Amino acid sequence: METRFVTIDPHHIEEEKLQAAADLIVSGELVAFPTETVYGLGADALCPKAAQKIYAAKGRPSDNPLIVHIGKLSDLERLTDEVSQQARQLAKAFWPGPFTMIVKKKAEVPYETTGGMDTVAVRMPNHPIALGLIKKSGCMLAAPSANLSGKPSPTEASHVFFDLAGRIPMILDGGMVGIGIESTILDLTEEPPMILRPGYITKEMIEDVLGYEVSEDATLMGEDSSKKPKAPGMKYRHYAPKAELVLVEGEPEDVVEKINALTTEKQAFGKRVGVIAGEETKEGYRADVVISIGARTDEDAIARHLYKLLREMDEQDVDVIYSESFASLRIGQAIMNRLLKAAGHQVMHIKKEKDEGSNERI
Ligand code: TXA
Ligand code: MG
Repeated sequence: METRFVTIDPHHIEEEKLQAAADLIVSGELVAFPTETVYGLGADALCPKAAQKIYAAKGRPSDNPLIVHIGKLSDLERLTDEVSQQARQLAKAFWPGPFTMIVKKKAEVPYETTGGMDTVAVRMPNHPIALGLIKKSGCMLAAPSANLSGKPSPTEASHVFFDLAGRIPMILDGGMVGIGIESTILDLTEEPPMILRPGYITKEMIEDVLGYEVSEDATLMGEDSSKKPKAPGMKYRHYAPKAELVLVEGEPEDVVEKINALTTEKQAFGKRVGVIAGEETKEGYRADVVISIGARTDEDAIARHLYKLLREMDEQDVDVIYSESFASLRIGQAIMNRLLKAAGHQVMHIKKEKDEGSNERI
């Protein structure tokens, strides 16, 4: 299949380009499009055959449900019979935006879209091309991230092309995304509601709107193999670069020293070493490839660069990657959740006394 790569300026959308994409959606085909979080791979959410094509194109396990993207609040009533007071409050506060709610599904929502579940994930994206495509096609769009299953989510159209060229008919290139990590997922069918995936919208922001505490899936930051994550997609080894990735935590100068020592060791065995560093510390490293993720004070930049950087490390063919930790930031939990998954939960803590440090799996 030939993949049409169509560049659209999000601020001056040419109607005929959007129409061509909408025609594909209406005919049951797939179109990759930008959202404010990551690129999505869209299909008509109410068409079982179209939803099935998404799984085939991505190589995605069929038990992993899709998020349905809507263009207006009344669309929520087409997906669920019970739009609760809390759903309305959250929609008012965070939509359009990087926030997904899980609600009970209506019979009309096909199991192909929900991965066999009786609930459905819903989000109103905050991007003119995504909203334009929903409106022009008249379809709600089932859309996972537009990467091959197991690869980092795409934050640029070129990432989608790299993964899916030849497998889908069209990619809309609307430039680099704004946020760079996937939406926060809140399960409203739990009491109290439960965060299944952390994101730009934090626990505190949700609690401010609801006026009470919400829970978090216990598997988010640790590797508790006795429990399964509630979002089926969170159980897969995701976002994984080809090279082994190890996070190194501690005081900045201790981390630089430790990573340099590890680098020397690995290089002695002929290995190529990559380092993911903050802008402030990047000059201190001796690795083969050192990539700055951005200034530590600019957490938005860190989130935006993370996936692109993991892809760059793959291109550089490094054997091992050491990354600084970015845990203490506002959306740091979301960033660390992704990094921990990419690292398969390999974390090295450097103690202050500068002893040898402990290598833990958390
Ligand atoms: O920002 C985003 O959310 C992006 C953009 C494209 O909107 N989409 C995205 O979709 O990240 P995806 O498919 O890569 O991740 C969806 C996650 C998966 O972990 C899936 O298991 C979970 O949402 N999910 C979807 N429906 C669910 C449901 N009914 N119950 C529990 N988890 C669900
Ligand atoms: Mg995904």
